[in-house]
Amino acid sequence: MISPITRGCRLRRSRIAALGSYLPEKILSNADLEAMVDTSDAWITERTGIKERRIAGEGQATSDLAYEASRVALARAGIDAADIEMIIVATITGDMPFPSTACFLQNKLGAVRAVGFDINATCSGFLYALYIADGLIRANVHDKILVVGAEVLSKVTDWQDRSTCVLFGDGAGAAVVEATYEDRGLLSISINSDGSMWELINIPGGGSRNPVSPETIRERMHYIRMKGNETFKVAVRTLEDVALKMLADNGLASSQISLLIPHQANLRIIQATAERLNLPMEKVFVNLERYGNTSAASIPIALDEAVRSGRVREGDYLLLEAFGGGLTWAAALMKW
Ligand code: UT7
Repeated sequence: MISPITRGCRLRRSRIAALGSYLPEKILSNADLEAMVDTSDAWITERTGIKERRIAGEGQATSDLAYEASRVALARAGIDAADIEMIIVATITGDMPFPSTACFLQNKLGAVRAVGFDINATCSGFLYALYIADGLIRANVHDKILVVGAEVLSKVTDWQDRSTCVLFGDGAGAAVVEATYEDRGLLSISINSDGSMWELINIPGGGSRNPVSPETIRERMHYIRMKGNETFKVAVRTLEDVALKMLADNGLASSQISLLIPHQANLRIIQATAERLNLPMEKVFVNLERYGNTSAASIPIALDEAVRSGRVREGDYLLLEAFGGGLTWAAALMKW
């Protein structure tokens, strides 16, 4: 437990000073997928809401996407890369098993004073990273932290498995998180895990449990596997619980939320959560029709688009929430 730091009677907390996002140029549409696996635009649209997703170029790795998003975020914040003290990259598709993608990103940005590390919390990764950044800022350890969610999921997608390959996309989002004594910023954040349900979504091969071998490759164990329908049900229940608890803990009614920024996995999951929170869909930001599920990148990309499109005004209460493999889930409440 960190003791609150104050200036006068004002509490030290973290706030997102600026955001940036990057989506690769190549678009893969549902029509393109119809030519690859036994699926249809109608099925994908009805079951997921996704129409198209972005695919990284041949030579593009996760740190390349992270770099593009980060340099925009830094420019918008008006700060130099050398002023960043820490870089946290949330990803499950790092450039290499090691070194960390954050180290590659630090080098590309020239963030010479920053310490960098990655965290793996699948689709909840950005909020996990924000939790770490917020704690370190509140504790007065750091003032400026770059928090990034970046994924090249197309490289771990089984393009022969119609139940998963229609879902995912590539992208990156970055946030410059800094200390503030103003009456706004990150008010509350909750992160959660339950490892007993790890089998619902995973990549079974390539780690120390099932090291890469001709057999793991033959069995396609280096690709994402998901029990979609079971995951769907747990996601809806968990997201409702974590969001309602976040509101109750902060004494807010859902009617006070200006915008819900959910992880962009499935439109039906998003609609079910909104309904359970009694939020009309006009108060929910959705962009999955264009990008699919970009895992750790989905929330910072969505938040960046929401801010840029004028959907977020100063003083608005924003609720962010995510769910993913692990299982992991998280929610955050911000006053913009
Ligand atoms: O990122 C965070 C974690 N991930 C999620 O939150 C994803 C959660 N799950 C989902 O979004 C949904 O479960 C899916 C979109 C993955 C699947 O939707 P569903 O309504 O749960 O479908 P289902 O898995 O129960 O499959 C229904 C049918 C099956 O056929 P039968 O057995 O009824 O004949 C599937 O084989 O749909 C079939 N199917 C497809 N058909 C056409 C599965 N994938 C496809 C496809 N095209 N791409």
